[in-house]
Formats: sequence, structure tokens, C-alpha cells
Amino acid sequence: MIVAALKWIGGIDGFLELIDQRELPGEFVKLQCRDVEKLCEAIKTLAIRGAPAIGVAGGYGLVLATQRLTPDDNLKAGLACLVKTAEYLASSRPTGVNLFWALNRVRKKAEDFVAGKPGASLQQMQQVVLEEANAIYAEDVDMCRRIGENGRKFIKDGDGVLTHCNAGALATAGQGTALSVMFEAHKKGKKFKVYVDETRPLLQGARLTTWELKQAEIDVTLVCDNMSGWLMKQGKINAVITGADRIAANGDAANKIGTYSLSILAREHRVPFYIAAPSSTFDLSIKTGAEIPIEERAADEVTFLAGKKVAADGVDVYNPAFDVTQAADISAIITERGVIEKPTPSKIAEHLR
Ligand code: MRU
Repeated sequence: MIVAALKWIGGIDGFLELIDQRELPGEFVKLQCRDVEKLCEAIKTLAIRGAPAIGVAGGYGLVLATQRLTPDDNLKAGLACLVKTAEYLASSRPTGVNLFWALNRVRKKAEDFVAGKPGASLQQMQQVVLEEANAIYAEDVDMCRRIGENGRKFIKDGDGVLTHCNAGALATAGQGTALSVMFEAHKKGKKFKVYVDETRPLLQGARLTTWELKQAEIDVTLVCDNMSGWLMKQGKINAVITGADRIAANGDAANKIGTYSLSILAREHRVPFYIAAPSSTFDLSIKTGAEIPIEERAADEVTFLAGKKVAADGVDVYNPAFDVTQAADISAIITERGVIEKPTPSKIAEHLR
């Protein structure tokens, strides 16, 4: 069974229910976000995480915002509230583009609705906002499945597959991106082994990816981040498959810190390196990965491990949450539309057209 990372409960007066990923795998706790501040906090603290899931959550954040409008507010006030909330939510995490994409999409839908129906009620506008957020959710579910179907051919019987961070159901509304490829290969009866990097500092690989793969009864082995090169040297890895948080027009792809190192190791050991991501992860407004803003997170994520201090008092810390893999080191990008082999700007533009 594939878990649902997030779910909208009810109609325009409803709320967003999340699996609190900070507690996994120890506890399975649901978190109810009934206002935008709580949702923003949940995104910042990684209760909900993974670029596509954050995007879907952002869409619902705009529904939550409209719940504060009163019968005295008019449509203009309604649209202003969406703009302000979108700016606020956009400040939560800077690297994944899906959040900005979803916020813009929902806001634009409401603006177009109001422009076409200036006499509409505020409630009708709220309904449009909810329907668009629901549409993003449903599309994400469908995209995830199709990414898996398009990518499963890259996993062969007997393969060892390496993944980093968590690009599974917990990171999306559906069955994930990189993990969806594995789920679909597994469904086809392929026998393969998945190696999962721990993914320091927040251990998304150890805590979340192993949890998801165990539930799906896929053969999974956990390794520390610094072991992957040696696994490749030993011939244990036949493919690396990760997700992405933002892909530039030339195919450079931002993903969890450590992905770049894996891509260089994969190149050195002639192991194919695949990125699995929905088309909402592409940002064609930027030419290369150099323009992708890289989130830096708090020092205590590095100096503490499971609540215990693991570094000298007062040590300087650098904690970038993402890095950028060069397009030249990506064998293929797998999307819901198909596969972009050896991505180039023209192939990407053609693929997304
Ligand atoms: O900081 P996180 O846990 O949100 O980082 C998540 C990742 O880097 C994932 O690999 C990426 O979002 C792709 S998820 C489908």
C-alpha cells in the first residue's frame, strides 16, 4: 500500500492533513493544518517535504487563506489575499520550483475566473481555488504513476539501484518519482536490490525511503552517504535514480545535497544516472543550474543527530540543503511524458512543448 503524504479533508471550509514526516519511521502521526501559518511552519520544518508534495500543499495553502475572508470582503480583497499568501508561502523553501509553480497556477486561475465573472461571489472564487488545488493534486498522482511506467525499463533483473534522499510517496501526492520507477519495476515482477543513502543531515533516506521500500516489500539495503563510491567500485550499482527539486532549461538538476557527488561517482564508474521528475519541476526561466537558489539550513541540523550533540561547541557549520548535478552527467530525465535521453536545451524544450 502506498501512503498518502497529504490529503485535503472537506470542502472550502476544510483543512489539510499531513503525515508528520519529522516523526517517521518511529511514529506515524497525522498533522492537521487549519491555517496558513501552521502549513508554512510544517513546510519549513519538513513535516511535509519533497518538491512535488510541497507544491501540492502550497495550492491548498491558498484555500486555507481564503477561509479568513469575511462576508464584507469583495473579490478584489479575495485576490489580494491570494497574492499576499502566495508570497508568504513562497518564502518557506527556495529551491524546489514546484511550490512557486503551484502557487502561481492557483492564483492565476482565480484571477482569470474573476476577470471573466466580475459579478461572482467570494464563495464561488473560493470554490475555484479549491478545485484548482484539487486538480494539481490529481495530476500529481497521475504524473507519478506515469513516471514509474516510463522509467521501469531502466531497471533490469538482478540490478543494484542506488537512490538518495526520499523521492517516494512521502515526497509527492502520488507514488513518488524515483521510487515510482522502482514500484512499477517491482509490480512487473523484476528482482532488484535498492541501496539507499542515509542522506545526512536529516536522514530522509534512512528514515523515509527505507520505510517506504520495506512497506512495498522491495529488497532494500541502507548505506551511509560516504559508502556509495565503494559500492560502485565493487560493481554493486547498475543505476542511480533520484528525484529533483528544480531542473533548468539546459537539464542541470537541483536535488538533495549529495546528489552531485553521486553523479560524479556514477560518471567515474560508468553507471547510468537518472533523474525522475514531473514536468512541474522544470524551470525554463533559468538557463542553467547556476541560477538555482540553494537553501541553506540551520547549523543544528548538522551539529545534532537524533537530539544528541555530535560536534564541538561553537564550530562553524555550512549546511546547504541542495546541490546541482550537471546535465552532462545525467543519462536521462524521466518525466510523465516520456524520457529525455542525454538532456540538452533543445530536447527539453521539445519534450515540454
Ligand atoms: O529537503 P527535502 O527533504 O524536501 O528534499 C527532497 C529532495 O531533495 C527530493 O529528492 C526531491 O524533492 C524530489 S522528491 C520527488
